[in-house]
Amino acid sequence: MSNYHIKNLEEYFQVYRKSVREPEKFWQEIAEEHFVWRKKWDNVLSWDFSKPEVKWFENAKLNITENCIDRHLLTKGEKTAIIWEPNDPKEKALHLTYSELHKKVNKVANVLKSKGVKKGDKVGIYLPMIPELAYVVLACARIGAVHSVVFAGFSASALATRTVDADCKILITADGSYRGEKTIDLKGIVDKALEDCPEVNSVLVVKRTGSNINIKDGRDEWLEPLMKNASEDCAPEIMDAEDPLFILYTSGSTGKPKGMLHTTAGYMVYSAYTFKNIFNYNNDDVYWCTADIGWITGHSYILYGPLANGATTVMFEGVPSYPDFGRFWEIIEKHKVNQFYTAPTAIRALAKKDLEFVTKHDLSSLKVLGTVGEPINEEAWHWYDNNIGKNKSPIVDTWWQTETGGIMISPIPFATPTKPTFATLPFPGIQPVLMDEEGNEIKGNQVDGRLCIKYPWPSMARTIYGNHDRYRETYFSTFENMYFTGDGALRDEVGYYRITGRVDDVIIVSGHNLGTAPIEDAINEHPAVAESAVVGFPHDVKGNALYGFIILKEFGESRDRDNLRKEIKQTISDKIGPIAKPDKIQFVEGLPKTRSGKIMRRILRKIASGDTSDLGDTSTLLNPEVVEEIINGAL
Ligand code: WT7
Repeated sequence: MSNYHIKNLEEYFQVYRKSVREPEKFWQEIAEEHFVWRKKWDNVLSWDFSKPEVKWFENAKLNITENCIDRHLLTKGEKTAIIWEPNDPKEKALHLTYSELHKKVNKVANVLKSKGVKKGDKVGIYLPMIPELAYVVLACARIGAVHSVVFAGFSASALATRTVDADCKILITADGSYRGEKTIDLKGIVDKALEDCPEVNSVLVVKRTGSNINIKDGRDEWLEPLMKNASEDCAPEIMDAEDPLFILYTSGSTGKPKGMLHTTAGYMVYSAYTFKNIFNYNNDDVYWCTADIGWITGHSYILYGPLANGATTVMFEGVPSYPDFGRFWEIIEKHKVNQFYTAPTAIRALAKKDLEFVTKHDLSSLKVLGTVGEPINEEAWHWYDNNIGKNKSPIVDTWWQTETGGIMISPIPFATPTKPTFATLPFPGIQPVLMDEEGNEIKGNQVDGRLCIKYPWPSMARTIYGNHDRYRETYFSTFENMYFTGDGALRDEVGYYRITGRVDDVIIVSGHNLGTAPIEDAINEHPAVAESAVVGFPHDVKGNALYGFIILKEFGESRDRDNLRKEIKQTISDKIGPIAKPDKIQFVEGLPKTRSGKIMRRILRKIASGDTSDLGDTSTLLNPEVVEEIINGAL
């Protein structure tokens, strides 16, 4: 028997030990007892990190939507699967049952089929947080198409890059989207993006805002009438365990975004099992994760994980500040939310507001609180614990990545004693190690190093779509036979992990993963810019903010600096999205470089954070004189 639901610390240690001693047996039992299969596997796991190649539940056959929807119909058909809360609280919330979800998903699946979408085809999705987003994602999974969701806050250019890279020929979008008081012209962004996507020949449009949009003949169609005419029956496509389920992009420290490819069975088992335990989900609970489905958090912990457990999952269209800063707390009260999962940046922003926004709401339904996306500072942790959880709801600080598919290090509520700023202990099946820069494992406690994982887990990404070499290079070449996370971590005296932040050139801003290279590329597109370097510096709400150091071309020197700053920010907004705009831009004469021409970001990071007391050894620089100049002009 598997311990599907871990209830106390002894049980955690017992389960964890088993998961490390007999990983195959451990996962086999969970997979067997808690999921439906059309055919069982021949082999639980085969792996080789040097290739890298990882296969879980080899030759098993299944469909993930049968696990997330069909199997609940008999006993939970009338249970609410999704509560959708609109941007405007005056608009009615939607309570969608499992049997209604089944029909909607099947209808969209049939629409996709009628457009010629087949197993293995890639489907681009650029939708706001409306119910159709859930239908479309699940409809893809139903027919074996590979979904590639692009967060609807990304720019036209970012959407185009991802659409082309993922080989999408069809895109599902909406006429517009609501974000607080703003209405965003989503279809306009799509039209612009598609100028650079010659392969896309079909666009299905969900009506949301009723805005006046351009419908391109022969390419664009409204989704609703197609759904109306489609059958509500659609047999699930029988998939192999290792068939691709989705592609989701994440930023790297260099180059274009990486399309992380996740496969079916392992992802399903891991997202479901982690959801059950890390949120302590019980039958009638209402669970709410505030992320967008455009990120991995939404994939695993709004849709797949909760639905595989027959849970009620809340989907929120709006923002925490609309109509006022009490919106999150109002929604918790309104829907009697039991588990609430959000990002430290949101907590920090809301903690700055009048406490009355919180206290006027009844939050007594809450049982478990979660955070994700970036390190949570001590102050924010206590604010969350005191004011939201009233010191009775454990906080699960969950560390994971787009690449890992599911939560890797986290407390298990009511089992693992929490400790502010610590993600605590590895989830069963996860074998973290800390490595030094020479490639040796750092054993023992009270140590810090680079966080790696030394054994496969079911939901790890299998490749970067279209670039397996880059996958090996990025994650499996820094340390031999290890998955390298890119994060630093420390292990305290009892073995708890604290994630200290990225050790590469990725910067986490408001919980969003931004690579420095794409931002620098965007800056460099401005005609007056010669060269640039972007680093992060601590920010009390966003966690990190961006600081750009920019060298101008000669003719740019005479331009008005404030106008230039505005134009450069606009360029970044157009190329990537508003989240990538730097808070500070300093124009400099030169950038500190090593003799091999590499920018010494370490020095820039120090200057950006206002701490120039110890810049370390600058004598190896090619141009040590620029350091002084940059410090003098620092903002
Ligand atoms: C990076 C991954 C996983 C969903 C959201 C982000 C940072 C994530 C934590 C945490 C400290 C965290 C890491 C990681 N991160 N969770 N609980 N404590 N840092 O996914 O965009 O792939 O970013 O986010 O640096 O590597 P992502």
